[in-house]
Amino acid sequence: MRELSLHVLDALENSVEAGATSIELVIEERLKADTLEIVIRDNGRGMSPEFVRQVLNPFVTTRKTRHVGLGLPLFAAAARRCNGDLRVESEAGVGTTISATFQHSHIDRAPVGDMAGSVMAILLSDRPVDIRYRHTVDDRQFELDTAEVRKELGTVPLSHPDVRGWLQSVLTEGLADLRPPGLL
Ligand SMILES: Nc1ncnc2c1ncn2[C@@H]1O[C@H](COP(=O)(O)OP(=O)(O)OP(=O)(O)O)[C@@H](O)[C@H]1O
Ligand SMILES: [Mg+2]
Repeated sequence: MRELSLHVLDALENSVEAGATSIELVIEERLKADTLEIVIRDNGRGMSPEFVRQVLNPFVTTRKTRHVGLGLPLFAAAARRCNGDLRVESEAGVGTTISATFQHSHIDRAPVGDMAGSVMAILLSDRPVDIRYRHTVDDRQFELDTAEVRKELGTVPLSHPDVRGWLQSVLTEGLADLRPPGLL
């Protein structure tokens, strides 16, 4: 995929499909160590140990609409192409953690892409889910916790046009600030 944000969107969709009400997304870019790590942790229904063992196989899916599930295998292939890896840890009834690592400077590493768009897509979907998103580039940090935002809003939904616009700008501006001009 052309952007890491699309792999993240797919993993976030998996979490929502699994009934998660709370998702943690952590992205850590360490430029000196030359690593980029993405962790998606949810409180969804989880998977059995047997299922976890096979989940990176493209023919494993619980989808009803078609018979291949490509999200995680493609994400894993992207990481492995960049001297990294993807791990799946899951416990039935508890939740799932996906951790992907990449060599930051690898020629094949896709750009981070529109992470704000991926997060917004999930927040604006029909199912109520909170996302705690933390993104660091060396010692610069961005953090957004929609559970906190919801508390402040009371009965106003995240999908309210004003809230939606505000969330979008908090995300895009906050993420842009992680990268001073000239830093990739
Ligand atoms: N966070 C998760 N919690 C519980 N089960 C999951 C989670 N992520 C993936 N799975 C299970 O693993 C299967 C494979 O996921 P994968 O993303 O590879 O394919 P898919 O979602 O089925 O299809 P696609 O991503 O191609 O639309 C899913 O169908 C689901 O059963
Ligand atoms: Mg998927």
